[in-house]
Amino acid sequence: MIKRIAVAGAGTMGSGIAMAAAQTGYMVSLFDTNETVLAKAKSAIKKNLDILVEKQKIAAEESTVIFDRILFSSSIEDCKADLVIEAIVEIIEVKISLFNKLAAINHAGTIFASNTSSLSITELQKDILHPERVAGMHFFNPAQIMKLVEVVKGEQTADHVTDSLMQVCLQMNKTAVLCKDAPGFIVNRVARHYYLEAMKLVEQGIASFESVDEVMEASGFKMGPFRLMDLIGMDINLAVSQSLYDAFNQEQRFKPSDLQKEKVSKNELGKKTGKGFYTYSSEKK
Ligand code: NAI
Repeated sequence: MIKRIAVAGAGTMGSGIAMAAAQTGYMVSLFDTNETVLAKAKSAIKKNLDILVEKQKIAAEESTVIFDRILFSSSIEDCKADLVIEAIVEIIEVKISLFNKLAAINHAGTIFASNTSSLSITELQKDILHPERVAGMHFFNPAQIMKLVEVVKGEQTADHVTDSLMQVCLQMNKTAVLCKDAPGFIVNRVARHYYLEAMKLVEQGIASFESVDEVMEASGFKMGPFRLMDLIGMDINLAVSQSLYDAFNQEQRFKPSDLQKEKVSKNELGKKTGKGFYTYSSEKK
């Protein structure tokens, strides 16, 4: 029975996942090695809860209870939980190392879920101490709002582990879809061309990025591809493009765009750095 959740990485995704878990009754540890990111996550969660109070979705007392369920920590020792969800940097060796460190301090039933967008869960399992307790739990951005979670079963993942994760999603009021480990899982594979084709249009001088967004939003998509890439983060989006390109033997349809590479090299990563395709004022970040 999962009661306590540790979320590793308090950036864009980790802070949203921690908030969603606390809102649905879980005790949460939110861990990050970067104190500044932790402080930012703390104020973002507080602000998001205040908005819910203003909108009368929750009472002020409830907001305090939810906030108090989260322990913000830069000490790995606080990541003792029944379920650990990692949302750290998208580098397989770093994720493996973190899971192995966490396995050493956790109990024999702790489940280790990765929020990776682009890495293979089966690959991740290869150098991990307890591969049967490792799975993917892919949330969408912003995690406290978006309903969908892809629960990903790696080759060695035990059935009871994916069953538990489906249960957690249910308690978190999420719509969970169980899928096999495959490049991009479901959404990122289908959506890849939403970004890549949009960037081709701009590179070929057919339309400006603003026009592409305007047209796609007017045609019914909630966010245009460029606004969405800014929200996701250009570094994360490039990592997903690159991993699909590699996984599909460098098929041209998955080739990362020079435009996204250029944005990453300039550290214009989107909302999180204040500039991506669009520019963001600090209050709006
Ligand atoms: P981010 O860059 O906003 O946050 C990552 C955080 O991890 C940073 O605050 C960093 O200090 C921390 N970190 C790095 N190494 C660490 C370690 N060893 N221990 C503890 N903390 C560490 O990244 P973001 O966007 O939140 O992505 C995190 C993960 O979520 C990635 O695997 C990404 O693929 C995935 N993801 C991202 C989505 C997005 O829209 N940005 C959507 C779905 C999944």
